[in-house]
Amino acid sequence: MALSGPQIRRLDDRLAERCRGLTPHQYLAFLKSPSGAAELEGLISAVVVNKTDLFRDEVQLADFREHVLAPLVARAGGRPLRLWSAGCSTGEEVATLLMLLAESGASPGSTVLGTDISEAALRRANSLSFTAEQLRRVPAGPRERYFMSKGSRLALVSALRERASFQVHNLMDAPYPRPPEERGFDIVFCRNVLIYFTVESFHRTVAALADSLVPGGTLVLSSSEPLLQVPPSLRVERTASAFFHVRVEGRGSGEGTSPPRETGTARVEPRPQQDSVARTPVPRASRSEARAMAEDASEAAGPGRTLSARGARTPQGLDDAQLAQASAAAFTEADLLFACVLDGASSGASDAAAERDLRRCLLLDPDHAAARYLLGLLLEQCRRPLEAAVEYRRALVSLEEGRSRPVPFFLNPSRLRVACAHAAGRLESLGGAR
Ligand SMILES: C[S@@+](CC[C@H](N)C(=O)[O-])C[C@H]1O[C@@H](n2cnc3c(N)ncnc32)[C@H](O)[C@@H]1O
Repeated sequence: MALSGPQIRRLDDRLAERCRGLTPHQYLAFLKSPSGAAELEGLISAVVVNKTDLFRDEVQLADFREHVLAPLVARAGGRPLRLWSAGCSTGEEVATLLMLLAESGASPGSTVLGTDISEAALRRANSLSFTAEQLRRVPAGPRERYFMSKGSRLALVSALRERASFQVHNLMDAPYPRPPEERGFDIVFCRNVLIYFTVESFHRTVAALADSLVPGGTLVLSSSEPLLQVPPSLRVERTASAFFHVRVEGRGSGEGTSPPRETGTARVEPRPQQDSVARTPVPRASRSEARAMAEDASEAAGPGRTLSARGARTPQGLDDAQLAQASAAAFTEADLLFACVLDGASSGASDAAAERDLRRCLLLDPDHAAARYLLGLLLEQCRRPLEAAVEYRRALVSLEEGRSRPVPFFLNPSRLRVACAHAAGRLESLGGAR
């Protein structure tokens, strides 16, 4: 996994709680021993991000239904379809796929496999039951047709539930699951999982997921996970609002149903347009104050100090109120520093200074999506498109997971989300051009 400085410190904090007096080596040996299995599971559950939703990203799903699923059902001629939700978390994506299959008229023998590294998430997924609040995005028709009350929750009807199965699987481990017929999956969803992986793990996993597909099968990543290096076994299918990756028929030979359209590695992109960056001037006093505060914040931490969950440097052992106060101070500093960078952009500050200040800002608030987006633009401008794409994707995840705060002097969150998605898509399409 690709962890930022604050994430590593957060992981350290969680490990310190769990080690309970063992040295790191002893703890590692315990995790690897048979008696450490439950602890390993607990540790995994403590560090993974399980955020998910029924009908998550309706825009992408609408294009999926129209351009991927409907033609596939027509081609299949009654053959049961095999779908896999890799990194399915607590089952919402599996439930969504079961409903989409039923609505599309796919064979009733079609199945959806859900896998995840977290057993705790899968235990919840197994019930395929949700609260009324979780059903808020489910369109009225499917909500009526496919759910029944079960105590205080709403459970998927058994006719759909029995088409689902779940199993623990770590995407880092071979072998990958296969459907019963051993042919491969018709569709693999792996959304909002790879975003947390290092670049190498990301690409290795994509290649392995591609190998799990039947020729002509489709890999669905989230809109925040553009492929900068599309493996030869996949070609990109663009629709009005989404992109999908289709396994070519003859591996790597380009014998797909249509010729490979976008494959290859990212190339350098011309200077990005800056029009989306607001140019509201910032009072001089705030700028110098911001710089001083941020420098204090990022440099004054000494031994025995740690970061709070949101990145503010605070001494260990603070109570909740003190932590909240420290976080609020960190956010204020981050916003002032960000405003400083915006102002510097119009007054000709160097790229190096802007990058340094944006990184300081992100140290204070790792979910500062506006700063991350700006850092992406800057990195692109400095001809570092791979790093830029990572920043766009991270900004998008912070926005989609509701962790990012609106900041003064910049685009509102929904506009920023569109800008990040476009920027990531733009790099992805350049990555495809050979
Ligand atoms: C943010 S959730 C995404 C859930 C769902 N795919 C969606 O888009 O709503 C990410 C899931 O990936 C799982 N995950 C993380 N690393 C994994 C790995 N190496 N192998 C399998 N699952 C993993 C986590 O446990 C978590 O449930």
